[in-house]
Amino acid sequence: MKQFSYFVKLNLHSMKLITLLLGLSYCLSAQDTYLKNIVKFPLGASVNPRMLNENEAYRNIAKEEWTSLTAENHMKMMLIHPAADRFDFTKGDEIVAFAAKTGKRMHGHTLVWHNQVPQWMKDFQGDQQAWEELLKNHIQTVASHYKGKMAGWDVVNESFLDDGSLRPSLWADHIPDYIAKSFQWAHEADPDAILFYNDYGQDGKPKKMQAILDLVSDLKRRGIPIHGLGLQMHINVDSKRNELQEVLDKSVATGLKIHLSELDIAVNPKNNPDFVYEEKVASAQAEQFNFVFKSYMMIPAAQQYGITFWNISDKDSWLRGYFKRPKEYPLLFDDNYAKKPAYTSLINALHSLN
Ligand code: XIL
Repeated sequence: MKQFSYFVKLNLHSMKLITLLLGLSYCLSAQDTYLKNIVKFPLGASVNPRMLNENEAYRNIAKEEWTSLTAENHMKMMLIHPAADRFDFTKGDEIVAFAAKTGKRMHGHTLVWHNQVPQWMKDFQGDQQAWEELLKNHIQTVASHYKGKMAGWDVVNESFLDDGSLRPSLWADHIPDYIAKSFQWAHEADPDAILFYNDYGQDGKPKKMQAILDLVSDLKRRGIPIHGLGLQMHINVDSKRNELQEVLDKSVATGLKIHLSELDIAVNPKNNPDFVYEEKVASAQAEQFNFVFKSYMMIPAAQQYGITFWNISDKDSWLRGYFKRPKEYPLLFDDNYAKKPAYTSLINALHSLN
């Protein structure tokens, strides 16, 4: 009897130990199941304030998965400066408040762009000085409002065409040297912010890439504050890796911080209505994500500003909404906000590098 009770005690003891160990290993593996814990740089997504409010699954991912956030639309001219004498910071502020509450870095997007410009700006009449006042006032009011809350800003977005020429726009057409002036104005308003030039599709477009590198050299030579390059990375499952690598290498060679600022990987870029997201293409996409992350992990840590996905789940992607491609699946979370195999594949691929 004595022996039996000793046996029971011992077993109770070892069961407790086993439970403890299981609990511990569960905690460790739960930690490891977050991509953000595997990478050593900020990892983020762009977000939509309505979705943050209305959709719990969306909000949870925004809260748990990322260490950095960007407003997908609500800091753009059209939404933040709806009338000449009126700024509307409500929605932008909501995102900033969410980021503050959940301990995330904020990245600002974007002060100057040819797109999503309010009608009143398009209708504006004035001489060069009046245009400069308009743009300076826009940049400085927005950057001052968010001063101290933004780690960095995309100051100027998408200024070059594929052939490397300056894209005609309200700004290019009315303000000579508008890019340099914009960086200067942004810096005056928020001297601590990391200032980026942001653009897309440099892979396979050597002239566009060169125009961006020339811009960087020119700004540096003139002492204009530019600190980073945003590579949007709206790429496809079959984007050529050597071309993507070349863009990254050339960008890194500027010495500036590098932000993969709007990552998504399209699987159905031609919008084939009969497209099926089968395993073969999903795993090719996972390989492409792995490639992007691995290449980014190789760049000097001091230049890693972070990687930002362009929204959260496939359902939220602009490729579906803006480009009207219903059968597109470019992100790491599926329509039900579940992690896709590409997410786990990334974790496994990056683990081996750490
Ligand atoms: C896109 C948004 O995702 C869409 O919701 C909006 O309708 C259009 O703009 N490059 C950029 C982003 O710098 O601001 C764009 O965002 C996508 C391309």
